[in-house]
Amino acid sequence: MNTAKIADLLTDVEKIRPLEKKFNILRQLLYDTGADRYQDHEPEIRHKIEKVSSEIEKEVKNYYERPKIVEGYLKIGKRVRDPSGWEIKNLNKLIQLVKENNVTESILDIGCGYGHDVIWFEQHGFEAFGLDISEPLIERARTLYEPDTGITDNDISRFIVGSMTDMHQFDDASLGCVKMDASLYHLPYYGNDSPVNLTIRETHRILEDGGVIYLRVHSVADGENGFMELEQRGEDLNSRYGQNLTSEEVRDMLESNGFEIIELLNERQGKRQRDWCSAYARKV
Ligand SMILES: C[S@@+](CC[C@H](N)C(=O)[O-])C[C@H]1O[C@@H](n2cnc3c(N)ncnc32)[C@H](O)[C@@H]1O
Repeated sequence: MNTAKIADLLTDVEKIRPLEKKFNILRQLLYDTGADRYQDHEPEIRHKIEKVSSEIEKEVKNYYERPKIVEGYLKIGKRVRDPSGWEIKNLNKLIQLVKENNVTESILDIGCGYGHDVIWFEQHGFEAFGLDISEPLIERARTLYEPDTGITDNDISRFIVGSMTDMHQFDDASLGCVKMDASLYHLPYYGNDSPVNLTIRETHRILEDGGVIYLRVHSVADGENGFMELEQRGEDLNSRYGQNLTSEEVRDMLESNGFEIIELLNERQGKRQRDWCSAYARKV
């Protein structure tokens, strides 16, 4: 494509909807500039992709603040989980890794939703915190600190409303472990300086040396493309933005931001038997 055509495309892209289609085009253009094509346009492409990324983040927040969605998550949060099921197995594995790496028994659950895992870690002797972009979900998480959880410390500073791209509430090297289960993939990924990479860098900053990170994202084992997708759940158009990431992308985002991979695996999990990429890594 010649440079005049790119200029036209960059004007036309403004009208493109839905947002993920616009994002996909810009992301491909950005990747092509990285391969030494139409480099002069890189600042403009980057500016546009940053703008569409922040629009997507707002849409995700709106989705997770809808009353129907909040109520649905609260119901899931109250269910009793099978102690031998994969969810609890993953949490136990994190406890084991924290012990093996001799770091503090403290955890931040990023995208904690209704906070069920924060409570689980508290009940297992950890100092646990939850961060989520959705205000109503965090409000609900706070109410889960009820007498029947066996937790009497009702310090609401445990649950913070905010985006994972900025975790200023946490000091450098202040935590032994960070968990991001089914949350990181809501942020756009386009390599360096994308919101996903900013989040991984923030996570590195707040972890102690040897601290453990666990993340789980939608992956592409079925050959779906790696760009943003719009999910449709149920009869309503309950759309939310998400993104499939390849295991190579997950490896690269961790290794290029100061983590050493402990384990990286692709598995089919959950009711809908989707492909997920899970990664356990330590700060080096
Ligand atoms: C699919 S839910 C997963 C909830 C929980 N981690 C679990 O596994 O049950 C995704 C969560 O990530 C949160 N989230 C999405 N984007 C976020 C962001 N930029 N910063 C913090 N939380 C975010 C949502 O509000 C939602 O609670």
